[in-house]
Amino acid sequence: MRRGKLMHNFSEDKETTRLNYKQLFRKLSPFLARRKGTLVWVTFLVLAAALSGRAIPFFIGYTIDNAIVKKDWDLLLYCTIGYAVLEVLNSVFEFLQVYQFQKLGNQVLLDIRSKILFVVQRIPMTYFNRTPAGRIVTRATNDVSQIGEIFSDGVVKVFIQLIVLISIVVSMMLISVKLTLICLATAPLFFYLGIKVTNKIKETLRVSKIATSALNSFIAESLNGMKIIQMYQLSRSKMDQFEFLSGDLKRVSLKSTRNYAMMMPILNLFNGLILASALYFSGILGQQDGIKVGLVITFFLHALDFVHPFRDIIEKYQQFQNSLTSAERVFTLLEEPIEAGYNLPPIPQKVGNAIEFRNLSFKYQDTTTTVLKNLSLTIKDRQSVGVVGRTGAGKSTLVHLLLNLYPPTPNELFIGGHAIESIPLNQLRHKINCVQQDLFLFKGTIFENLTLGSERILDDRVYRVAAEIGLVDYLAKTQRTLAHPVEESGANLSTGEKQLISFARILIFDPEIVILDEATSNIDSQMEQLLQTASKKLIQNRTSIVIAHRLSTIFSCDRILVIDNGRVIEDGSPQELAAKDSEFKKMLSDQSYKDL
Ligand SMILES: Nc1ncnc2c1ncn2[C@@H]1O[C@H](COP(=O)(O)OP(=O)(O)OP(=O)(O)O)[C@@H](O)[C@H]1O
Ligand SMILES: [Mg+2]
Repeated sequence: MRRGKLMHNFSEDKETTRLNYKQLFRKLSPFLARRKGTLVWVTFLVLAAALSGRAIPFFIGYTIDNAIVKKDWDLLLYCTIGYAVLEVLNSVFEFLQVYQFQKLGNQVLLDIRSKILFVVQRIPMTYFNRTPAGRIVTRATNDVSQIGEIFSDGVVKVFIQLIVLISIVVSMMLISVKLTLICLATAPLFFYLGIKVTNKIKETLRVSKIATSALNSFIAESLNGMKIIQMYQLSRSKMDQFEFLSGDLKRVSLKSTRNYAMMMPILNLFNGLILASALYFSGILGQQDGIKVGLVITFFLHALDFVHPFRDIIEKYQQFQNSLTSAERVFTLLEEPIEAGYNLPPIPQKVGNAIEFRNLSFKYQDTTTTVLKNLSLTIKDRQSVGVVGRTGAGKSTLVHLLLNLYPPTPNELFIGGHAIESIPLNQLRHKINCVQQDLFLFKGTIFENLTLGSERILDDRVYRVAAEIGLVDYLAKTQRTLAHPVEESGANLSTGEKQLISFARILIFDPEIVILDEATSNIDSQMEQLLQTASKKLIQNRTSIVIAHRLSTIFSCDRILVIDNGRVIEDGSPQELAAKDSEFKKMLSDQSYKDL
């Protein structure tokens, strides 16, 4: 196998954007529609800020011509006060405009993030198998923030500055169309130059985003896999990969800085040209056309304001393009088909608890090996079934199918007489609870991990159940309580402890069907005792499947299935199987179980 296999595949990140502005707005519009009020308010503020901004030069011109030139000192005082009021108004509008846009942006981002979470919780497991977690993290963080820039920086700036620019040109034309045309004669040339440079910037930015994304995914994955990295002492090779990726980022960042640096001189030159021609020609034409001196100054002030929005439009246009790439990725994720099971109509009558496999065969998507083969068996309501078998026999796959994490072929798996694909997922997962083999706990406290934040669970119940199965006493021995903190993914707890907590959680939630997929672990006899008592409680009066590596766990089950290579090879009560010359008996006498 190729050594670099552990390196990431960033092909998706390299894709260029296919979304155009229209499509982007179509996709954003449901999010914007929810914020109509803010949107109307924001539009008003943009117009108000542009108009008050243009009123200022006119007011100054008026003051010069009517108060200063005519030496009307009273009017000058009123005009000065009027001018101050205008400036304050303009500042207030601009402040509110920026604030409201940010607010709108944040509201939309919040909605998009919630939608991402909603979707991610409902897309089929197969998506997570083929998508690195780091990439999903990048979607939900970096890419969503980029969409935010549409509101704070990108398209919104373009939109605002376009309105400002139009208001400036109209104001200049109101004074003199001829003068305006002369002054802005070079604008198309500079616009062309500006766009050329920003196109270069865009390209380097795109490359730098790929480099950033690669680095982010790399860091996220390295953090997740830190245990393995340290254990196998991969630090050196990881460092090399890191240096390679960050070197890449440095190179492209420098290139884009260089391009940015070119932008300023071009625009400064343009600014100089406009102002010089405004100064010179407004002087001459002012004389010829009889424009008063105050109005000449007004014109000059408008011209002075021209370059700023002009530059912003050229610059932010590219940023907007950038946001498009992110938007496309986010919307691709949002449009991932969610599991069909969430949209099924609820089954009105109570679904029974018997489980039936009808000649079920199963293989994982994109694989060729059939993991379960022609499995036919019925588990009665409230029957407890222990499942044993060698590693890779297909035991955990049974769990995946029963929780509908992976869909079986239709009409091969039934719960309470209903084909599993017809049971809405929330109904199914309410009914069946499971302790998975890879025990996972959330960062928080033990208590929070027991309730999972569910409001229907009363505190009393949590304490009672935790005490009943000995969790409280067990923790007390090491001066811990249910309020003890749990590190990310339960890193500060032993496997046995995690298992006991997971058992307690199921007892608290009290589902009708339980599945225990035991983690292989060597646990001491005290923990063994606790877990055994807990699992006895768990299977009492419930349909249950207990997948066990430690056979002691399943002796209290009504029935045992031995699975080998995807088939049931033995099926009977523990006593029956232990009595005859069975695979189960062999397992019992096997070296690893001798101590039982
Ligand atoms: N998500 C998956 N995608 C593809 N193949 C898988 C997947 N999960 C498991 N398999 C394959 O299916 C087979 C059965 O795996 P399964 O996890 O059901 O075994 P198991 O009996 O639970 O083993 P263990 O005792 O080690 O937990 C294995 O060959 C495994 O490689
Ligand atoms: Mg397993």
